[in-house]
Amino acid sequence: MKALVLAGGAGTRLRPLTHTSAKQLVPVANKPILFYGLEQIRDAGIRDVGIIVGETEPAIRAAIGDGSAFGISATYLRQDRPLGLAHAVLTAEEYLDGDDFVMFLGDNLIEGGIGDLVTSFVADRPAAQLLLKRVADPQRFGIAVLDDDGCIERLVEKPSEPPSDLALVGVYIFTSEILDAARQLEPSWRGELEITDAIQSLVEQGAAVRASIVDGWWLDTGKKDELLDANRIVLGTVERRIDGEVDGDSEVVGNVVVERGARLVSTTVRGPAVIGSGSRLEDVFIGPFTSVAAECALTRCEIEYSVLLEGCSISDVPRIEGSLLGRDVTISRTERRPSAHRLTLGDHSQLEITEG
Ligand code: DAU
Repeated sequence: MKALVLAGGAGTRLRPLTHTSAKQLVPVANKPILFYGLEQIRDAGIRDVGIIVGETEPAIRAAIGDGSAFGISATYLRQDRPLGLAHAVLTAEEYLDGDDFVMFLGDNLIEGGIGDLVTSFVADRPAAQLLLKRVADPQRFGIAVLDDDGCIERLVEKPSEPPSDLALVGVYIFTSEILDAARQLEPSWRGELEITDAIQSLVEQGAAVRASIVDGWWLDTGKKDELLDANRIVLGTVERRIDGEVDGDSEVVGNVVVERGARLVSTTVRGPAVIGSGSRLEDVFIGPFTSVAAECALTRCEIEYSVLLEGCSISDVPRIEGSLLGRDVTISRTERRPSAHRLTLGDHSQLEITEG
């Protein structure tokens, strides 16, 4: 069995961060989203991984290389334009070479790995093995309707009037039958070849399409709030590890990771939180569910429930929360103190706060 990881696409919903970087490389608990999927693929015993890439190919290649750091063998498959998930599968046809494959969307995170999914597939090798999860906002996903026996009756992509609340999770296993179905597709209303339509045509042909409902969490990190939520959930799994320097006036409470080379001076960190290597924090309060990446410089500020990418510099800001800051963002005080800020800033943004 091979794996096909989708790391192309435009990432419009995470702009401006994704103007300069791939959405699959945005970090959750200081680790790119994509890495969690690659580790789960490896843990399921799959070595050959095709990675669909688009415009952000250089960044994805730089992060994954030949895959050996993850215990996989990575092959890059260029998709010239993001014409849909089924188009991505067709792009990989030669690489897949008729093998069964796990298809993993590079911006999805699931709890507990894919071992059980692979085991169910191997047991009776249906044409498609799917994962479903009940969601509050079914308009945003591919949606499945099950019959009384729990079998898939119908699938529909992002319906305006959802027939159920069971969303298709972005991890699937297919035999090569999906390629025949994908070849017959016409573009959908959003101009894409939809994998949901390809699976629907397998259902119509009477092919075996199995689904199980996921118990654990599933996160599609396509937007800021979802990313912060993913960060909250993944930080909830970290264990305390203090490898950096914490001075006598600082306090580190609960499950906090302070990476080697990080330095805390007169600073309180209330976990769960992670502080990346080379970051310097002085007179700072870091509240729960915050990830500070490497090489950040923070002075006299309070930050909670936020994700900061590398090289951010923040000084004299009383409170930032619910915020996602891209690389090298600078925020500095000019005048009065606001009591809270909610920001989505792109890479290299600079913000001067002038009023509260
Ligand atoms: O997250 C689960 C949902 O993923 C499913 O419920 C939907 O049925 C499925 O269509 C998909 O919907 P999205 O609209 O969220 O997919 P998105 O465009 O975000 O693409 C998912 C991943 O695949 C993302 O990492 C980008 C990549 N991609 C996307 C397209 C359209 C490609 O590599 N190539 C593409 O052509």
